[in-house]
Amino acid sequence: MKIGIDKIGFYTPAFYVDMVELAEARNIDPNKFTIGIGQDKMAFAPITQDSVTMGANAARQILDEADLKAIDMVILATESGIDESKAGAVYIHRLLGIQPFSRAIEIKEACYGATAGINLAKDYVAKNPESKVLVIGSDIARYGLSTAGEATQGAGAVAMVVSANPRCIALQDDNVFYTEDIMDFWRPVYSEYACVEGKYSTEQYIHFFDTIWTRYTEKFNQKLEDFAAICFHLPYTKMGKKALDLIIETAPPAVQEKLLENYRLSTLYSRNIGNIYTGSLYLSFISLLDHQSNLQENDKIGFFSYGSGAVGEFFHGVLQPGFKKYLQTQTHEELLNNRSKLAITEYETKFKQQLPKDGSTLEINPSSDPAEIMLTGIQDHRRQYVRK
Ligand code: COA
Repeated sequence: MKIGIDKIGFYTPAFYVDMVELAEARNIDPNKFTIGIGQDKMAFAPITQDSVTMGANAARQILDEADLKAIDMVILATESGIDESKAGAVYIHRLLGIQPFSRAIEIKEACYGATAGINLAKDYVAKNPESKVLVIGSDIARYGLSTAGEATQGAGAVAMVVSANPRCIALQDDNVFYTEDIMDFWRPVYSEYACVEGKYSTEQYIHFFDTIWTRYTEKFNQKLEDFAAICFHLPYTKMGKKALDLIIETAPPAVQEKLLENYRLSTLYSRNIGNIYTGSLYLSFISLLDHQSNLQENDKIGFFSYGSGAVGEFFHGVLQPGFKKYLQTQTHEELLNNRSKLAITEYETKFKQQLPKDGSTLEINPSSDPAEIMLTGIQDHRRQYVRK
């Protein structure tokens, strides 16, 4: 039985920061951000969007009535959780109107969480072929104003329906995964911001990719030229390129050209959104699908997932017949084209806004955010979510 991603879509908030303007405000050469790091725009999540609302906004675009009846597990992967106890997936389950005989859980392992969610979903569908699982990766990447990580912030969510007989991509069982206890990026429970050893995290990403790829090719007797494209976790778009460059010369020149072009296509959304942590690898897959013209059914797509701390994984999927019919390309383009640019001073002011933590009430005007699902405030420590 084939199992894989049946539907996939993303959401990103309605605001962004221009990276050239950010560089100028920080007295940095803009080429460092646009070329050196490879980012043009950075999505900004207003106070009305969190990992729950972004995840629900991503999912609502891909689900139909049949999905709402068939889904019996909701997995939210996030490292921007809103509660130490209650899973954000429970709110999402309600906001979407999914039938009640469902499981709803939250998974965490930095940017790797959504990959863990997909694997859990795959195993579940193997035992329950009629079931569908909603897997969401949703995060806000925040490093702080005027920090080295600031240029690699972002916000957004990817939602995927994992099912039998998937219409988009059938996932194979050749996963190679690897864990090492390292401190490259973490966020203590008392901190609003991540602690990050930026250069070290970049080195570790490469080390994990090298180690996993070597094992993968040996164990499964695969070569780079077997793949039509490889999608990477993209904390910034230059990162995946550094990993691809490590192995690109093992393929014949014509294949190299195709892989590099498909890599470029896979980075177009991230270049304009920034890092969305858990959803980032899957955003690169959506970007590839929405912009490709050279991909065909049965093409093999490789996926490299990396979550700091750290866990990495490589696996592949096979594009399914007719996959192009089910893409949400127009929705995605509209979402990006309808965003408003924030002046740097506006971004800095909004960045400092926080929900009260003392139980006091905050009410936010629903018209301040065009999103269908948003946070309208907090009362008695309870976040108030609405679907307009
Ligand atoms: N024109 C073009 N390129 C320029 C440039 C200019 N004027 N100035 C610098 N660059 C290049 C650098 O050469 C470097 O490229 P390289 O990595 O290919 O050598 C790149 O821009 C970044 O410069 P660097 O000095 O390394 O940036 P930084 O110290 O500000 O940190 C990160 C960059 C990514 C480490 C930092 O943003 C960060 O910590 N981000 C969060 C952690 C993260 O995303 N980790 C990834 C793994 S999960």
